Amino acid sequence: TRSVFFSRHGESMYNLDQRLGGDPSLSPNGWKYAEALPGLVSKLLGDQPLTIWTSTLKRTAETAGGLPYKKMQWKALDELDAGLCDGLTYEDVEERYPEEYAMRDENKFEFRYRGGESYRDVVLRLEPVIMELERQQNIMIISHQAVLRCIYAYFLDIGPEELPYLKIPLHTVMKLTWTAYGCDIQMYKIDI
Ligand code: F6P
Repeated sequence: TRSVFFSRHGESMYNLDQRLGGDPSLSPNGWKYAEALPGLVSKLLGDQPLTIWTSTLKRTAETAGGLPYKKMQWKALDELDAGLCDGLTYEDVEERYPEEYAMRDENKFEFRYRGGESYRDVVLRLEPVIMELERQQNIMIISHQAVLRCIYAYFLDIGPEELPYLKIPLHTVMKLTWTAYGCDIQMYKIDI
């Protein structure tokens, strides 16, 4: 059977106050996740080979830092670009751009941040990643919440209304396995 592993980066300094985007480093708890990850991965994988795909942002490289496998960076795995709202908190966005905030709430999949991206844009830019993923064995992707929602929805056949609200928890490795019926997901949470 074929499996792919996914994880969000460890908690970042921006996650602490729910700030969008940016290129922050991990928080102290995020570093603990990065330290615990190699143990979990070797338990799940045994001595099979693995290739790690990260985004080009610091927090995914830091999360992958201790994993003793080949690594590759994809710009296409970077977090959804919040454009003008990059670096703001959700509260800031609501205060400074109330109309955009309301529009996003109305149609989160299609909403494109000014100077940034929509979920639809992310789905499109992920196409080459997904094509490559389907040809490969033993890949672990360390990326971001919005990107992993898109990848997860692709394999589990989840539509655009539900996709932007999928729960992709922090500090959890997700294992996607192809079965006779479709795809099966298992979650392995690391308690920090
Ligand atoms: O809060 C973490 C984060 O990855 C942000 O960088 C990003 O903008 C956001 O989640 C995406 O989630 P949502 O589309 O629900 O705002």
